[in-house]
Amino acid sequence: MATAGGNSYRNGTHRNSLKVDRPLSVNSNPKTSIKSKPLPVSGQRRSSTGSINGTTGASKDDAGVPGRVRVAVRLRPRNAEELAADADFADCVEIQPELKRLKLRKNNWDSDTYEFDEVLTEFASQKRVYEVVAKPVVESVLDGYNGTVMAYGQTGTGKTYTLVRLGEEDTAARGIMVRAMEDILADVSLETDSISVSYLQLYMETIQDLLDPANDNISIVEDPKSGDVSLPGATLVEIRDQQSFVELLRLGEVHRYAANTKLNTESSRSHAILMVHVKRSIKGRDSALSSEIGNNSHMVKTLKPSIVRRGKLVVVDLAGSERIDKSGSEGHTLEEAKSINLSLSALGKCINSLAENSAHVPFRDSKLTRLLRDSFGGTARTSLVITIGPSPRHRGETASTIMFGQRAMKVENMLKLKEEFDYKSLSRRLDLQLDKLMVEHERQQKAFEDEIERLTIEAQSQISEAERNYADALEKERMKYQKDYTGFNKEA
Ligand SMILES: Nc1ncnc2c1ncn2[C@@H]1O[C@H](COP(=O)(O)OP(=O)(O)OP(=O)(O)O)[C@@H](O)[C@H]1O
Ligand SMILES: [Mg+2]
Repeated sequence: MATAGGNSYRNGTHRNSLKVDRPLSVNSNPKTSIKSKPLPVSGQRRSSTGSINGTTGASKDDAGVPGRVRVAVRLRPRNAEELAADADFADCVEIQPELKRLKLRKNNWDSDTYEFDEVLTEFASQKRVYEVVAKPVVESVLDGYNGTVMAYGQTGTGKTYTLVRLGEEDTAARGIMVRAMEDILADVSLETDSISVSYLQLYMETIQDLLDPANDNISIVEDPKSGDVSLPGATLVEIRDQQSFVELLRLGEVHRYAANTKLNTESSRSHAILMVHVKRSIKGRDSALSSEIGNNSHMVKTLKPSIVRRGKLVVVDLAGSERIDKSGSEGHTLEEAKSINLSLSALGKCINSLAENSAHVPFRDSKLTRLLRDSFGGTARTSLVITIGPSPRHRGETASTIMFGQRAMKVENMLKLKEEFDYKSLSRRLDLQLDKLMVEHERQQKAFEDEIERLTIEAQSQISEAERNYADALEKERMKYQKDYTGFNKEA
């Protein structure tokens, strides 16, 4: 097992020189906080990722920008049971936030030290956790990248608290899902952009729709070319305001499997996956197309497709890993626990393979790992929060969570801008324009025919009038001659 650190402090003093597992990073300083935003800024972005391929409008299939998985660790405060049971014992961990280090006690005089991108003490607010763990990912999604925020940790350590809390009674308690949507809604323009959401749970190796429980066997579709994972069978709800989103989360919460175990009265028995699709329209570029279709500026205006960016935020609240003897699971709950542990161990194997740069990564071993393919070793910007508890009784589980986090920090993704010319809406626009032209043509045709008819009637009436006038004149002439003739005869 890779031991990060492995070196120790004795009674707070350095015993060996401190060696911490430094996060691997191509494009960023490992000491840089998770807050940093290593993506290129907008002007550079297009050239650095080369996503829009100038005149053809196709997305260039380049490698993308390196972006290591970021890992923060969050310590849950002691709960009531721990306050009583562990009263005479020190916490199993000690956190040094300024150094972004965590010390895991081995015994009273020895501890291992680990470094993370961020370490969050038991006093860290939900707002701060959002800002360091999720906000940079949300910003990337708004810029057109895929992003993942995932919580991993032993049962009862605060994964659901960190990600899913609605905080309706106490807004300070709002979790990452709610805060992420607030930021997304604040940034997009609903006239040109759209947000849609699916909310699912992975339970005993089946994917179920948390927004429509009857939809309980959704299949995963993987695009071998782009690496994108999608769930076309899932309900997709368009979001226009925060309230309707919170309603969806509440609906999902009702349908999610949870159970009362010895370690958590509200233990999640399924992995919950929230997918937020953000589609943004960017104004098209004149130059790219004018070379294609000459200098006809009217044509350019008509044929200029806008650019769409499709970022997808995936938020994953994993079911907790648990030692079955400790959680007291039996019967059906035991079967659930086995399935949860199976998918989590498949995830652990994939992270190990990726961290070690193995040629083969066993993504296909579970639905969870298939779903997370783009999040680890794929094109998404990924931030992981590992949650731990302070109790020395769970030191083993805490150590294994820490090791999972350390290995995840070695996973390097290649972020790719999901950008393309919007030919669909161009075609819709052209269709509309064609319809308009046809209606206008029909209107002109009708007006032309009406005018011809009017002119014909007018000409006919003029002819009739001329005929009448002619007949009248003839009659008058005839009468005149008749009168003259009668007068002439009388005189004669
Ligand atoms: N940072 C925190 N501050 C205060 N209370 C917390 C914190 N984190 C978790 N809790 C409390 O601890 C309990 C367990 O948290 P939660 O249900 O989020 O754990 P979990 O990791 O999701 O567990 P499981 O894997 O069993 O689903 C809850 O009562 C929650 O309110
Ligand atoms: Mg939970």
